[in-house]
Amino acid sequence: MGATSLIICIFSLVSYAIAVPVTCSVDDVGIKEGSFHVIGTGFGSKLQYVCPENEYPHPMQRRICERTGEWTRLKTIDGLFYNRKPECRKIICPDPLGFEHGSVEPFDLQYYIGQTTTYQCFDGYVLHGSESRTCQPHGKWNGTTPICVRRSEEEACTDPGVPAGSTRTGDNFDIDDKVTYECKSGMILFGSKERVCQESGEWTGSEPACYYSYTYDTPDEAASELGSSLNALLEVSDPEKPNIKKDHSRRIILKQGSTLHIYIVLDTSDSVQEEFEKSKESIMDLMDKISAYEVSPKYAIFSFASKTITVVDIADKKMDPAQARQKLEDFQSTEHEDQTGTNIRGAMEKVYVMMSAQKATLKDFNEVRNVIILITDGRVNMGGDPYPVVRQIQYLVGTNASGDARDEYLDIYVFGVGDVDKDIINKMASHKTSEEHAFVLNSHLDLKETFEKMIDESDSVALCGLHKESQGLKTSKQENYPWHVSITITRPQKAESCKGSIVGNLYVLTSAHCFMPEDDEGSVKVIIDDRDAENPDKPIVKSVESILLHPKYSIYSKKNENIPEFYDYDIAIVVLKDDDNNKIKFSQKARPICVPCTEESRRALRLQPGTSCKDQMDVLFFQDIVDAFFVTTENKDLKNMNVKIKLRNQPKRKCDEDALKAPLYSKLQDWKEVVTDRFLCTGGTDPEIDEVTCKGDSGGSLVIKRKRRAFQVGVISWGNKDMCAQKRKSSDVDSRDYHINLLEVQDFLKPHLKHLQFIN
Ligand SMILES: *[C@@H]1O[C@H](CO)[C@@H](O)[C@H](O)[C@H]1NC(C)=O
Ligand SMILES: *[C@@H]1O[C@H](CO)[C@@H](O)[C@H](O)[C@H]1NC(C)=O
Repeated sequence: MGATSLIICIFSLVSYAIAVPVTCSVDDVGIKEGSFHVIGTGFGSKLQYVCPENEYPHPMQRRICERTGEWTRLKTIDGLFYNRKPECRKIICPDPLGFEHGSVEPFDLQYYIGQTTTYQCFDGYVLHGSESRTCQPHGKWNGTTPICVRRSEEEACTDPGVPAGSTRTGDNFDIDDKVTYECKSGMILFGSKERVCQESGEWTGSEPACYYSYTYDTPDEAASELGSSLNALLEVSDPEKPNIKKDHSRRIILKQGSTLHIYIVLDTSDSVQEEFEKSKESIMDLMDKISAYEVSPKYAIFSFASKTITVVDIADKKMDPAQARQKLEDFQSTEHEDQTGTNIRGAMEKVYVMMSAQKATLKDFNEVRNVIILITDGRVNMGGDPYPVVRQIQYLVGTNASGDARDEYLDIYVFGVGDVDKDIINKMASHKTSEEHAFVLNSHLDLKETFEKMIDESDSVALCGLHKESQGLKTSKQENYPWHVSITITRPQKAESCKGSIVGNLYVLTSAHCFMPEDDEGSVKVIIDDRDAENPDKPIVKSVESILLHPKYSIYSKKNENIPEFYDYDIAIVVLKDDDNNKIKFSQKARPICVPCTEESRRALRLQPGTSCKDQMDVLFFQDIVDAFFVTTENKDLKNMNVKIKLRNQPKRKCDEDALKAPLYSKLQDWKEVVTDRFLCTGGTDPEIDEVTCKGDSGGSLVIKRKRRAFQVGVISWGNKDMCAQKRKSSDVDSRDYHINLLEVQDFLKPHLKHLQFIN
């Protein structure tokens, strides 16, 4: 890496001024049994090898067109030059022959995808871990490392095992005993190379694993590891969360008001625009997640290629997390003049310098927890080995603490995406007891999925309004609208069905007119439909404890005033039976929507603590006509229906007036008699054609999206025309829908939804 890469770097600085066009020839770069394609042109373009299913390109997946007009030279994962033609090889899993005190079946030279191995221990030993493991397409065995543990265990630590592909030295497991691991050639060791038995009976560091060039972490694996590590970190920083799970708790509990500094370091070198955007979005997702905890971190953000650009400086006192996020959103990769270098060391030096400045100026720097999150999708090609700088950073923090405790003040998470130096990634990342900090992901899409999935790992924080965006990801419709539920009411004659929205694990909002006085709780069920589940005919059904109608709702109260049905205050809260099996378990498919004017919404909108309900409404209802949507069912699928809420002035007046076009109100003169202050109005064709609600949509939510979260502003109540009878779901000029405005019924919500923190 050293000398040669330095020369390339100096050379590149000179030559971009002169801009000599470069082309790399695609003659003679082919791969046996596979194909390739080139992304981009000339200098910096990428050659990507593609192999048939269950095979991988050996020795490299990707080559870059260098300034010399040559593709990156072929090298094996061990760093040796490879002078033959690249070839597609079958994906294999690391062999489990280090398995001790037992036997592996079958005994093979190589293990291919789909192959299963089983493990048995000799007499006197018990098996910990998986008895049977199957080789998976990402080059790992499923399950956990099988270990034969001696029955009469007198040592402090249990046998840490020998993960597949590795060999171990060290057979004593008492306090301070050390074991070290090595992977067979052709593989890189991921995790801790060395582990020490601690007094607590735990081994230091994380379990090692042997990775081939094609071995990746799946988003599920990465999300679950990252989620628990980050939770451990954030929850100790959160004074509101006293109950930390024992197994992942950290030793140092932060004092209230202590500080968290997060340094985000993003690789911008030769990544395709789309990939860069995905990385940015992933980081923004992470910042959203962190903003849900009661910690207000300071952020630094760097973007690096050959050089490093500081996007956000941690010393900037006026920068709050929301502004930092905005800065990142606005940042363009084109701000780098030269995007061809991957200089991780240079970037880490910037982090070091900024952290040193913090140490020099902050009185309580020794109390600050520092988190570095590095995302890279390239191989280091200049600047040299970043690891020595990581060591410098380790010495900088937590000076007052010694040994292990010092570790508590620094967490370095490293995400490698695609074809990266796994060795560097593993070396740079922190290795803490039962926590993972190093991840390799197959693509930027997987990275995004990891951060999205991670959000779901933590059900301790019920983040409201989170949902998956539909495009680009393999999402189910329920994941797009996780708050959306059905409500069924069984009656002697005919079953009725309405929609509702989850606002807590025991609470669902819907409209009052869904229910009749004779309905009892037993006849009402809340249904979380999941059409994409393995068994779509078995939806999740929740039992109901009580139905709370708005006390002022009274549908027949104006019968004598030519108003046969009156929908003012048409809102109800369905309360579920409070037992562990019946409570809604939050997941990607079931999650609360944000209710405006709550602390939960404030965080979701990323407004300052102490801001008012009006501040939230200024963001949600920021102009006279705002975009919103509701969810309808079409061909058993959920569908997004776009509408515009006419909030003020002439558009609202016109919308409200059309209420008189309802056949029910044909004898009325004044629309104000039926469209009270409680209603929001949608529909019509001005400024655009809105979509309209149909009968079964009643009780569903009227939703506004902000900051990639969903906020419920209304409950669907009634419409003036039955467009659906004509099989139309879009509006004509005067077909309108009326929704109960949640803001106007806060007095009803507050005393019942006690789990939400309402603000005035
Ligand atoms: C591993 O995968 C196989 C096949 O998909 C499955 O039958 C088995 O239960 C899995 N084992 C573990 C331990 O997850
Ligand atoms: C660090 O240690 C010194 C000397 O033991 C002590 O005076 C100082 O208060 C400590 N600082 C913190 C922040 O704990």
